[in-house]
Amino acid sequence: MSISHIRNFCIIAHIDHGKSTLADRLLEITGTVTRREMKDQILDQMDLERERGITIKLAPVRMQWQGYQLNLIDTPGHVDFAYEVSRSLAAVEGAILLVDATQGIEAQTLANLHLAQKHNLAIIPVINKIDLPAADVERVKAEIVHLLKCDPEDVIPISAKTGKNVEKVLQSVINKIPPPQNNNFSSQALVFDSFFDSYRGVVVYVRVFSGSISAGEKLNFLQTGSQAEALEVGCFRPRMSKTDKLQTGEIGYIVTNLKNINQAKVGDTITTYMTGKVEPLPGYEEVKPMVFAGIYPKEGDDFQRLREAIEKLKLNDAALTFSVENSPALGVGFRCGFLGMLHLEIFQQRLQREYNISVVTTVPSVAYQVYLRSGEKVVIKSPQEFPRPEEIDKVEEPIMKVEIFTPAKYIGNIMKMVVKRRGEYIETEYLDEDRVILHYFLPLNSLLVDFYDTLKGVSAGFASLNYEFFAYQVCDIVKLDILVAGEKAEALSTLTYTDEAYQAGRRIVDSLKEAIPRQLFEIKIQAVLGGKIIASSRIPPLRKDVTAKLYGGDVTRKRKLLEKQKQGKKKMQKIGSVDIPPEAFLSVFKR
Ligand code: GTP
Repeated sequence: MSISHIRNFCIIAHIDHGKSTLADRLLEITGTVTRREMKDQILDQMDLERERGITIKLAPVRMQWQGYQLNLIDTPGHVDFAYEVSRSLAAVEGAILLVDATQGIEAQTLANLHLAQKHNLAIIPVINKIDLPAADVERVKAEIVHLLKCDPEDVIPISAKTGKNVEKVLQSVINKIPPPQNNNFSSQALVFDSFFDSYRGVVVYVRVFSGSISAGEKLNFLQTGSQAEALEVGCFRPRMSKTDKLQTGEIGYIVTNLKNINQAKVGDTITTYMTGKVEPLPGYEEVKPMVFAGIYPKEGDDFQRLREAIEKLKLNDAALTFSVENSPALGVGFRCGFLGMLHLEIFQQRLQREYNISVVTTVPSVAYQVYLRSGEKVVIKSPQEFPRPEEIDKVEEPIMKVEIFTPAKYIGNIMKMVVKRRGEYIETEYLDEDRVILHYFLPLNSLLVDFYDTLKGVSAGFASLNYEFFAYQVCDIVKLDILVAGEKAEALSTLTYTDEAYQAGRRIVDSLKEAIPRQLFEIKIQAVLGGKIIASSRIPPLRKDVTAKLYGGDVTRKRKLLEKQKQGKKKMQKIGSVDIPPEAFLSVFKR
């Protein structure tokens, strides 16, 4: 295929605006997938994706149409996966900007558009769902024209569902998106994704920027210094299909003989030349997880299986981090790092679904940067790691820049709720008379616990949210310790803002009172801040011996009861003389 007949593009949109449905239609019209083979949203290959109807992993596909080779990379719409979007964008020359005719431009539409513009992509504006009675094509068109400063004629109104005008979109891809350029002749390919196939080894998804790569060639990875052999090359139609080689401008896959995904990093440049002769392509920003949670097997002996499952998931998830963590209450598990709450949720569900492992997840926390008096800086991912107050010079927390899109009538409600969650107002931007964008700085902490649900609640479901990391800023965080019968229960410590410490202490002490079973003696539960008790409660003693009435009577029943008690005990943690069941820990730090 001559390079002038190749077009590489992606579809960017807010969640649910119809990307996958449009992709389905494109596959159908180009005959890439026959109607019989067509399953709805074929690019969403993972079961989970199909079930939840959202796209998580990008899936590239090659189509042939009117003598052109069209390579489409589907992209996810949710903010947690913004890094996947930017990976796709670096591999293409243009983007279809898809906007729902009943919703108009929303938070992620704009965020993704900004990313696309940063990559200098040609943009094709498309309005979707025009078949719906609630479609307001003229209003949405006006919004797009205002945003892109484009001609109203350039905006294509379509129905991805019925297929109306979808061919016009393909025509526009050919006419408006520039073909790839060939800058030099040494081979250079950008790794934009990779996965580990247990039968074949590491498979990398690449965009070839110059030269070509054939099966059998030796590969050099410029960043990692890894060397490998291309066992097979090919493209996606949409299933993997073998070809002789991948040429300049093309998107496809390479099966390598590598056994470890870390040797083939996303963002790396592959060349078939000697290293040193070829410049690496600009890679991607490394993504750093900022949300951490403990993940423990529900069944204690599932630890090995959990480890294997996490290691496998990590192969396809560059942003995930994990390290072994020991909790006296929950046993051995992992402290895992995520990009955000959706990332965490999907990770949990994949463990359950793909590996059949149920896990207990502790309440997520953010990564704090703690500057010590000694001049050292440490990153704290759990309360247990928090240094003693006298060692600390200052603590910094991640602050996000947040954009909230909303109909103007909900501004009051939203402002109230954001301020309550420590938001700092920046400005209000008017999209038109009744749609605005509220800009805030907000601690990531505030985003972790039901921010999104509350936002939807106070805006009748209309507000949408986008956020990105802004900076680390000094914060007033303290460690709250919990004493059970006078002994410190390290695993129950939490980090809280100083001015919220009293409330937090009260809440924890109360929930422990409910969750710890009464014992033969009175138990005192106290929350301690800097040596001072700020909240306390008591669990009164148990008056009756449960087995007393069985004396002299039914021995088997008694034995069974004691046996059961013993089993229960195994899982309990003893703090001083008090047995604390795992449920009690969970009542404090489960989501
Ligand atoms: P994410 O992957 O979650 O970002 O969603 P998406 O953008 O891929 O949206 P998807 O294609 O899953 O469509 C969302 C919903 O809108 C689905 O229920 C579709 O059936 C519906 N939909 C998509 N396009 C149209 C359309 O042109 N008309 C109508 N009536 N419904 C549509």
